[in-house]
Amino acid sequence: MNLTSHQPTHPLIGDLSVPGDKSISHRAAILGGLAEGTTEISNFLCSEDCLHTLRAMEQLGARIQVLEEYDGVGPIHFFITGVGMSPLAPAESIDCGNSGTGMRLMAGMLAACPFESKMFGDASLSSRPMGRIIAPLTQMGASIEATGTRKGCAPLIIHGRTLSPIEYQLPVASAQVKSAILLAGMFASGTTMVIQPWITRDHTERLLSHFGIPCSVSQQGLNISITGPVVPQAHNLIIPGDISSAAFWMVAASIIPGSNLTLRKVGLNPTRTAILDVLQRMGAHMTINQASASNDGEPFGDITVRYAGPLHGTTIQEQEIPNLIDEIPILAIAASFAQGTTSIRHAKELRVKETDRIATTTQNLQAMGAHVEEFEDGMVIRGGNPLTGCLLNSFGDHRIAMSFLIAGLASQGSTTLEGVECIATSYPGFADHLAEALHE
Ligand code: S3P
Repeated sequence: MNLTSHQPTHPLIGDLSVPGDKSISHRAAILGGLAEGTTEISNFLCSEDCLHTLRAMEQLGARIQVLEEYDGVGPIHFFITGVGMSPLAPAESIDCGNSGTGMRLMAGMLAACPFESKMFGDASLSSRPMGRIIAPLTQMGASIEATGTRKGCAPLIIHGRTLSPIEYQLPVASAQVKSAILLAGMFASGTTMVIQPWITRDHTERLLSHFGIPCSVSQQGLNISITGPVVPQAHNLIIPGDISSAAFWMVAASIIPGSNLTLRKVGLNPTRTAILDVLQRMGAHMTINQASASNDGEPFGDITVRYAGPLHGTTIQEQEIPNLIDEIPILAIAASFAQGTTSIRHAKELRVKETDRIATTTQNLQAMGAHVEEFEDGMVIRGGNPLTGCLLNSFGDHRIAMSFLIAGLASQGSTTLEGVECIATSYPGFADHLAEALHE
């Protein structure tokens, strides 16, 4: 399926609510499904990725009672009754779809379960590195086989065992790996500690504490520990909007003259807000109204973006990378429309996302006429010359598809993205929001 964008007839003006946060939705399904008791979850992201995780938790014995569905796609408001830390052996293999987060986090839990389980995913997920979770979970005592055609890749066969706590230094800054170890640590007797090279998103820690299980965090936020065994207690939850989805519209309003757009109830967790700092540093005009209460431990608020003239280039710092890793494709679009040079380095992790996002972003930007130099660990973009719309491939990557449809809004002519089905993995309703932006 294709989608086309072109310059809209009017600037982007008004209000928009993006769907619930993807990272928090995965964790809500997992912890709600493991908890003792019934949790009411509101504003769940019913994207394919999170629905796979929710179905997996059902396979493991969690029960769902749907209160509201979104547009025939899936539940956004439901009760989940957990298994009290005793998942049942799944009758069938667990399908994680396209989701690295789902597979890696659930591996942490399954490693501690007294049965064998199998997880598989699509072609993209079957080529992503799983050694990064297999190493620490094996140290804890689990036995995990990566049976994919690519070495160290899914399908995974997990032989659950009684786990022992470990102290583990992460070789890469990854919230997924940290979370897999913390989830395994919930089952192990004693204190499990994860030491991170840089701060990564802390939704697991916040949600654990919401479910009554404190994690202790060192002063600089790099060392996280959990003492098991623990049983999370059900606790209702409202999930804020996903700042990574809001980022597409922040950039759109920053590059389309005359825009004045408010994004409602977006998550403002400080481990995710580097995109706001960077866009402001580039000259974007933003007003951030943080709500006085937090959504169950997760801060949120409204973000208004007003077009304030051309952006200018910036250098992304190494410590900012984990905080905005998923926003780099759309940031590269902002950089292409900015005056001057933007440098995005120390971002090698982009090569092992849903696609090699350094390669796919560079290839599509170059096709539109942008000046981009590709490096092993990132890209340097010399912005400011007009981009030209053309026919582009999504490469099956949701964030590539959406980023380049946004690029099309500010480029000459029209831009058509092939293979936009992938957008459903994180942003159901994007096509409607795009049509609204185009005033169609
Ligand atoms: C995620 C963490 C990030 C991010 C991914 C979601 C999470 O991955 O890219 O989209 O929910 O923990 P890494 O932690 O592997 O960098």
